[in-house]
Amino acid sequence: MIPASRTPFVIGNWKMNLSERWAVALLDDLLPAIAGAPEVDVGVAPAFPCLRAAADRIAGTPVQLGAQNAHWEDKGAFTGEVSPRMLAELGVGFVILGHSERRNIFGETDERVARKVAAVRRHAMVPVLCVGEQEGERDAGRTLDVVERQLRIGLSEIRPADGAEIVVAYEPVWAIGTGRSATPAQAQEVHRMIREQLASMFSPRLAGTTRILYGGSVTPASAPALLSLPEIDGALVGGASLDAEAFAGIVAAAR
Ligand code: 13P
Repeated sequence: MIPASRTPFVIGNWKMNLSERWAVALLDDLLPAIAGAPEVDVGVAPAFPCLRAAADRIAGTPVQLGAQNAHWEDKGAFTGEVSPRMLAELGVGFVILGHSERRNIFGETDERVARKVAAVRRHAMVPVLCVGEQEGERDAGRTLDVVERQLRIGLSEIRPADGAEIVVAYEPVWAIGTGRSATPAQAQEVHRMIREQLASMFSPRLAGTTRILYGGSVTPASAPALLSLPEIDGALVGGASLDAEAFAGIVAAAR
């Protein structure tokens, strides 16, 4: 269901880091560190082989479990892929889709991302659709065009009125893993455009209740200025999410 309000949402994208025992050890440190922030939704997205152990470790806590990718079919001859049905059965609640590393390293297209978004929704999980421009696109003044296209095609296979939640994450590619986050003004401009586009594609109500996260070099130092902006509803955190204290600092900034 679409949430009634935009509770801040902070997600740790662990990428291809942390094997099972390190994933559980990080959760051991993280769970007490974030226990004081019940007004923030927190999620972690471990690598596929760690999902089961992570699900067991966070059972009974408010932390949500996410995956970093999914195929668009439920089963079949797709060697090396993981289906959304498998993820749903593991208790996965949200799936990061269209991350720029998937797009740029693995050649994922907007059309494939759209099919994945629809597949994840079919299994009642929340798609976290990532959008964002490359540095050259920003320099060429094409940021809003690129993000508009990723959003328009990425959400083209879902029905406007089916009443289920989506999350959008704006991650400028030049800010990921570089230590150079977008400025609050840069992020605010793109977030506002994303919300306007959601209103015109779907409805003002959906736009008003959809959480739009910022990602790209979010740290405890950069988080307060970004997360205090009215259009930024949380963070998708890479590097800093691998450190319990740093991630807890970002969660605290989101309160
Ligand atoms: P960093 O926080 O390491 O820049 O990564 C951001 C990201 O890609 C999250 O999905």
